Amino acid sequence: MLEIDSLTKRFGGLAAVNNVSTRFEAGKISAIIGPNGAGKTTFFNLVAGTFAPTSGSVRLKGRDVTGLRADQVARLGVARTFQTTHLFDRATVLDNLIVGHRLRTHAGLWDVIFNTARLRAEEKLCRDKAEAALDFVGLSHLSHRIAADITQEERKRVAFALALATDPELLLLDEPAGGVNPEETVGLAELIRKLVRHGKTVCLIEHKMDMIMSLADHIVVLNYGEKIAEGSPAEIRRNPAVIDAYLGAEHADA
Ligand SMILES: Nc1ncnc2c1ncn2[C@@H]1O[C@H](COP(=O)(O)OP(=O)(O)O)[C@@H](O)[C@H]1O
Ligand SMILES: [Mg+2]
Repeated sequence: MLEIDSLTKRFGGLAAVNNVSTRFEAGKISAIIGPNGAGKTTFFNLVAGTFAPTSGSVRLKGRDVTGLRADQVARLGVARTFQTTHLFDRATVLDNLIVGHRLRTHAGLWDVIFNTARLRAEEKLCRDKAEAALDFVGLSHLSHRIAADITQEERKRVAFALALATDPELLLLDEPAGGVNPEETVGLAELIRKLVRHGKTVCLIEHKMDMIMSLADHIVVLNYGEKIAEGSPAEIRRNPAVIDAYLGAEHADA
């Protein structure tokens, strides 16, 4: 699904992502872990076209997508969620999804605001997709709720629905269980498995080690922008460099 070769992103003197190569298989769950500031979100930004890399390449299903804009990458089947779920708090959940769909598939807000005729023509299609996505994530009952009134866990599910509305093949999930309780985390992990059962490929960034270890097929570990390890959960758990950098001795014992 995704082949990353020697990917590097510098911000001034800082190499936020430094010469990272890896690949994500179709139909699998891959995870990116690493300490805060390791370059995980920057890696997603490079794949999703939010930033162009300083060097290196990104191939999606064999096609070179290096340096394409975010809306172009979205149209090729990549969707993402963000660490923080930004919603229009005074709009309903359903309206958030309808507008979000436009923002993700068109060049910018300008287009959404001024292209109202086309927006209306497409509204039925957008609405159907939004309702289907809400149903998929188990939030149909909240479609007319004001976004400000839903819980953190429900916001996370809305983020999934926003990503799904563009019919992606690859989903990049940035801390999908951030700020939710352990019970809700189990529910979100189940939702990620459901995505894969429906043919999606998933890559997630997460700090919750129990979730990652039970969910991921493949784990990539970043530290100071560099890939220090990759492998199955069992391999990562016993990798000395990972234990040093990140997991700590108690996880190694476990
Ligand atoms: N837009 C940016 N401009 C300058 N520095 C950035 C930018 N985005 C991220 N960084 C820096 O790059 C490094 C990696 O950040 P990030 O990818 O957000 O890490 P992570 O998601 O692993 O916590 C950090 O040192 C961060 O301060
Ligand atoms: Mg991050």
